[in-house]
Amino acid sequence: MHGTSTIPKTADRATRYAALLPQMRGLIEGETDLIAAMANMTASLQQTFGWHWVGFYRVLGTELVLGPFQGPVACTRIGYGKGVCGTAWEQGRTLVVEDVDAFPGHIACSALSRSEIVVPVKDQDGRVAAVLDIDSTALAEFDTVDEQALEQFCALLQPLC
Ligand code: SME
Repeated sequence: MHGTSTIPKTADRATRYAALLPQMRGLIEGETDLIAAMANMTASLQQTFGWHWVGFYRVLGTELVLGPFQGPVACTRIGYGKGVCGTAWEQGRTLVVEDVDAFPGHIACSALSRSEIVVPVKDQDGRVAAVLDIDSTALAEFDTVDEQALEQFCALLQPLC
């Protein structure tokens, strides 16, 4: 069993991602169920970084539907092209939002969220199968370090999609 407790909280973010990635790979290796893998990924990320909300929305038909998450209750369905999540789905790329109030159409599931990153999970045909959404209570919490690392984390899920 792989834990995430050995990563020092004082290490810089890139170092913490680098330490967490092989642990995550170990957690997911051999697992065939997407939901189980997503569940452990949200827990590991939230426990390591302490973010306000970490979770997945899965593409089901014409909507994103809430999947495994850590944090306060959230909206259960998001339309294609709606909010940050639906826009990341539509555009098929990661979106980093420094100030959610400045993003037209942002869906405020929690009044405490100030900044956000949404990373698509792509299936083996390159189609968006889900998105990873992370919200912070701080402005401008996320940057290219997060983008690059979280895209690697989401790529681990591809074989399960
Ligand atoms: N803020 C997101 C909605 C999801 S919640 O933040 C968990 C959005 O605008 O898509």
